[in-house]
Amino acid sequence: MDVYVLSLFPKMLHGFTRSSIIGRAVEEGRVRVHDVQIRDFSTNKHRTVDDAPYGGGSGMVMAAPPIVAAIESLPSVEGIAPRKILLTPSGRLFSQRDAERLAVEPAIALVCGRYEGVDDRVRPYIDEELSIGDYVLTGGELGAAVILDAVVRLLPGVLGNHHSSVDESHGRGGTLEYPQFTRPATFRDVPVPAVLQGGDHKRVARWRRWQALRRTRERRPDLFAKLSLTDKELAELDGDEP
Ligand code: ADE
Repeated sequence: MDVYVLSLFPKMLHGFTRSSIIGRAVEEGRVRVHDVQIRDFSTNKHRTVDDAPYGGGSGMVMAAPPIVAAIESLPSVEGIAPRKILLTPSGRLFSQRDAERLAVEPAIALVCGRYEGVDDRVRPYIDEELSIGDYVLTGGELGAAVILDAVVRLLPGVLGNHHSSVDESHGRGGTLEYPQFTRPATFRDVPVPAVLQGGDHKRVARWRRWQALRRTRERRPDLFAKLSLTDKELAELDGDEP
């Protein structure tokens, strides 16, 4: 997969694309990350990329010409252009479903806005607008990093263990993940639940399901409301842990 990061500060993502699992995916050639410096596409002599807003108001607005020129510089492969995503707090909320959908694209372009916003005339050159949450960041770069991470970890071969992305929170099951433990068996007087130390896989599966549902009900009632549970599962949830 090719990922283009269009930004005034593409280096903000370097530590991240060179470390850990994403760094290894880059080294192994599973993903190629390309920096596109939007300022390089400014045509005025001071290489400015922003200006005061029409109609007044505070702050600066990123101008359309350099961003659109940067977008139009992106290469098409076999006639297919990268899918262009603008990071903005006014976008649709990014989810695991979006990560799954983007992970099958041959190329994506993450367009990072800065300052108080981007000239609205950029929108026709963009395929979708995404937000990573209901808060305002100083720019789209962290959003681009979040999307890059969530997408790249889904690419074939990136997660060593084949199943690592199957059982997790926000996967297809619609629940949060069950609690996990590793050695030591007792930490500061807190033991690992006995059921996990026995070898009864069916009991383990029942315990994990119960825990996942309890956690989801408690922490994310919005997700819990979307689950279709059997009457038996619902009744068990109010009882003791299995
Ligand atoms: N740029 C500024 N805030 C953002 C957010 N919440 N999501 C994506 N891009 C942003």
